[in-house]
Amino acid sequence: MANSKYEYVISFEVEDEIMLPNIIVVNIDGRDFSRFSEMHEFMKPNDKRALELMNDCAKTVSEQFPDIIFSYGFSNEYSFVFKKETKFYQRRASKIFSLIISYFSSVYVTKWKEFFPQTEMRFPPSFQSQVISCASMEVLQAYLAWRQRECHLSNQYNTCLWELIRNGKSGKEAEEILKGTHKQDKNELLYEGFNINYKEQEAIFRQGTCILKTEVQHIVKYNKDGSPVQRLRMKAIKVHSKNIASRSFWNDYLCLCRELGQFAEDVNKIKPDYVKSFLHGSKMMTSTWIVIRIDGCHFHRFSDVHEFEKPNDAQALNLMNSCAVGVLEEFRDIVFSYGVSDEYSFVLKKESLLYQRRSSEIVSAIVSLFSSMYTIKWKEFFPQKELKHVPYFDGRAVCYPTFEILLDYLAWRQVDCHINNQYNTCFWMLVKSGKSKIEAQNNLKGTQSQEKNELLTRLSGIIDYYNTLPLMFRRGSSVFWHMHDDEKMANRGNEPVRKCCKVVVEHCNIIEKSFWEAHPDILGEKLSCWKPLRCTFPSDSHHLTRRVTCCDCEVAKFARSDNLSPLEQPSTNCL
Ligand code: GTP
Ligand code: MG
Repeated sequence: MANSKYEYVISFEVEDEIMLPNIIVVNIDGRDFSRFSEMHEFMKPNDKRALELMNDCAKTVSEQFPDIIFSYGFSNEYSFVFKKETKFYQRRASKIFSLIISYFSSVYVTKWKEFFPQTEMRFPPSFQSQVISCASMEVLQAYLAWRQRECHLSNQYNTCLWELIRNGKSGKEAEEILKGTHKQDKNELLYEGFNINYKEQEAIFRQGTCILKTEVQHIVKYNKDGSPVQRLRMKAIKVHSKNIASRSFWNDYLCLCRELGQFAEDVNKIKPDYVKSFLHGSKMMTSTWIVIRIDGCHFHRFSDVHEFEKPNDAQALNLMNSCAVGVLEEFRDIVFSYGVSDEYSFVLKKESLLYQRRSSEIVSAIVSLFSSMYTIKWKEFFPQKELKHVPYFDGRAVCYPTFEILLDYLAWRQVDCHINNQYNTCFWMLVKSGKSKIEAQNNLKGTQSQEKNELLTRLSGIIDYYNTLPLMFRRGSSVFWHMHDDEKMANRGNEPVRKCCKVVVEHCNIIEKSFWEAHPDILGEKLSCWKPLRCTFPSDSHHLTRRVTCCDCEVAKFARSDNLSPLEQPSTNCL
């Protein structure tokens, strides 16, 4: 990210590193999955294909991220346990849970047809995720025992419920019958009422599924004499076990003991305080603007593999914009979003109570939905290109306490868009003109905006070439709800005109105050009480030396008070 005087907004980002010796577990859970399963006619109470799809996705995730040593899942949830000493994304919680959920969501979409060849996916699946940090092996053991108990209880309850419904009871009647029943009662009901021996049900339903890493010999090449050269490689395998938190299961696997440790005793009772800690999720401060920023992971490689046009691929950007529109339509608390390159920022209204303002739930729901939409919509935007790599994004949540700082945040992103785009346009034009990448880099070192514009004009032979580029490349994309008159009603004459709302994608200058004045509804704040912040950097800092650049003219204007003399007004056509 390039520098600008708006960079002070970074200081609002909070550290969320999970310290050693905590063991990192990422729990993921289907979002609104009862609707998803109904729309796709999953079998009740268990759909084996849907469970195997979840298992296959979890296996792919654990193969993709080698630090995941053990996973356990049932129904529409999975837990991924990382090796004790993992440095995965330097142990930052939001990076970790967002990447995992994003990857999982994209894989779920990619694999759908393998498991449901006859069923069209009718809407994008999404999941929520969070990091559970386990302070010791004892806590991890309690967590696993707790999840497997949940698998058993919910499966037993649902098996009874659906047998009762199949035999003529209404949903309400069935629930009434099961109220207050114990495990034993349910087993008897199943056996005596429906001739079902619960213990003979498939293990995948009763016990859930584990994904384990085991070491296998793998042939990497052959010697000249034909003898194989073998290396040890980690392979993910699927296992079912009655008690995954027992010593006899766990301590049998060398890899688990080496990377995580042994279980000292068996768990008899799960401590309620531990369960309370598993359910805890931190909330974002009330009455602040929440911004969720997502960013493509390894998109440099992703764009190379898919041969995106350099430096900007209009279709790739349109695909990002289309996903952002989908996110705004789904989460009505998002009032504005801004995207550039492989990133998008989503602004939630100050009063939002979405998921009780729990950051991991908000971030994961948005990043997951965005990822599955990106994967689904790929063919629409790139009909000729096969999706070769799984697209995935990281996400973070940041609170901005005032309207001014929120606008500075958005200005920071747009300044960044401009600086990067101008640099990249010059870089690729130099490369196209025959320079090597190193030469192009050296040519651009230390150049100011004006010089870059002159270079572009010289190389292209077009006066003011930079400003002929599409606005989307120069300004990024703003996505927001637009209020407009209902055209049908407006044409009907005297009736009062109804207002309609739709999500629009525009490429506006959001650094300019005039944009926010023209759209007071977006953030619902009055500009009259808007006092721009003073720059807090020392006058000799490198941030101020950047002022001379074209876009920083805008920055300077934005950060000073309103009563500049006309001579001081910088040009407004920089962006
Ligand atoms: P991480 O985010 O740290 O995983 O790295 P990254 O590889 O995603 O790079 P970063 O997010 O810093 O920057 C985004 C990268 O995506 C750019 O550097 C480009 O390489 C690539 N990219 C994004 N949009 C386009 C595009 O329209 N065309 C091309 N050719 N590349 C693009
Ligand atoms: Mg990226």
